[in-house]
Parts: sequence; C-alpha cells; structure tokens
Amino acid sequence: MRKPLIAANWKMYKTPAQAAEYVQTFLPLVAGHNRDEIVLCPSDTSLSTVIPAVAGSNIAVGGQNMHFADEGAYTGETSPVMLKAIGATHVIIGHSERRQYFNETDETVNKKLITALKHTIVPIVCIGEVLAEREAGQTDDVLRRQVSLALAGIKPEEAQPIVIAYEPVWAIGTGKTATPEIAAEAHLTIRSEIARILGREVADGIRILYGGSVKPENASSLLNQPEIDGALVGGASLDPQSFAKIVKY
Ligand code: PGA
Repeated sequence: MRKPLIAANWKMYKTPAQAAEYVQTFLPLVAGHNRDEIVLCPSDTSLSTVIPAVAGSNIAVGGQNMHFADEGAYTGETSPVMLKAIGATHVIIGHSERRQYFNETDETVNKKLITALKHTIVPIVCIGEVLAEREAGQTDDVLRRQVSLALAGIKPEEAQPIVIAYEPVWAIGTGKTATPEIAAEAHLTIRSEIARILGREVADGIRILYGGSVKPENASSLLNQPEIDGALVGGASLDPQSFAKIVKY
C-alpha cells in the first residue's frame, strides 16, 4: 500500500562531473526497478547535472535543504521555486546535521514543510533523538514533539505527500545502526503521533523511512519490517554499486 522510498543523501560530496559519472553507472543498475521509489539528493551545484541525466528514468531528484520563502534577501539560500524550476521533485527538510550545525529548528522545519507542500515538492522531514535523549528514556517524547511541531497547521487533506525519515542521531555516519526492532518501535510511535494529529487514515498512508548507517548488509533486515517504508542513506549511497544493492534489498 505504501510504496517504499529509497533516497540517497550525498551531503557535501561530489562535483558535477563526479555526479554525472555516478548517474551513468547507477542508471543501468536499477533500470526497470519499480518496486521502490528512488530519489537522489545531490548538492545544489549538481542538481542541474543530475536532473537531465535521469530524465525519463525511474529516478527522481531532490534537494538536501531549502529556504521557506519563495524569494528574498537570504544570501546563500535556495528557494522552493528555484528547486521546482529546475525539476527537483523532493527535498530533505530538518536533517540532523542542519539542526546541529545550521540552526535548523522545529519551527523552521514546519515553515519549510508548509512551503514544500504549497509548491508540490515532496518533503522528506527528518526527525530523531540524540544519544543522551535515548539513554534518558526520552525517545518517545522527543519523537512526538518533533512530529507535532513539524506538522503544526497542516491539514489532513494536504498531508499525503509528506515523508518522515526517522534518523536516530547516534546512528548517523557512526556505523551504529538501530536494530530493526528499535527502528520499528520508533516508527510505531511516530505513526501513532501522526494519527493523533491527522487521523488514522492519513497516518496509515504516510511513509516513514529509516536512516542511519544503512548499508547493503543491513538493508533487507531493516526494510523488511512492515513499519519501515524505505531508507534515507548517506555514506553508503555515495557508491553507485552499494546504493543499487540497497535499492534492491
Ligand atoms: P548515514 O547518513 O547513512 O551516513 O548514516 C544518513 C543520513 O544522514 O541521512
């Protein structure tokens, strides 16, 4: 019922030339693969290389961040209008690295989510607890708070495109993966919070991805959990062979 979505978050890696080379290798590896939605999120400087390179294929392209305003005096930022104009269809919002290093807050996440929906860009909204919160038994509270603040003001009838990525911060880039059971439990909490806010029917249709050290070796055990509707992959998405293996878990 929920089509899995597997997204590559390349972070601040790859020049346009390296991105083009990647796509050339990756396309044939996943040709005809329609079980899952596949999304590549390169840095902004490679978007206009990657988007035409995947045109007509089963691969979509997204940004890693965007501003919540359509335009304005915001030096260094990219707007949803700009992403849309070059053919990006998805955007990652609220990644923990943006929360940690670039002052992203639950409030800006909410504004960006509202703007993405307005421009029909699929938002991939990242949430997740840090290690100290998990150890203090606060994971459920943190996840419920992040979900409810992200969804503030969103109406049930407009929520369907939203994708949530559960990324426990302690698992990102650390090689530590949440066990499938830990991830599934967090996903249940997230879905129940979505249901509380937007209703059960809407919640059952929203995809919740897992992210944090997903690799070819652990992809199938995570993705075969019924509560896990896909993956947001950082490090292991940088190599086309490795990302293709994850896509075909
Ligand atoms: P990782 O990153 O796969 O390298 O842990 C995931 C992410 O940050 O989205």
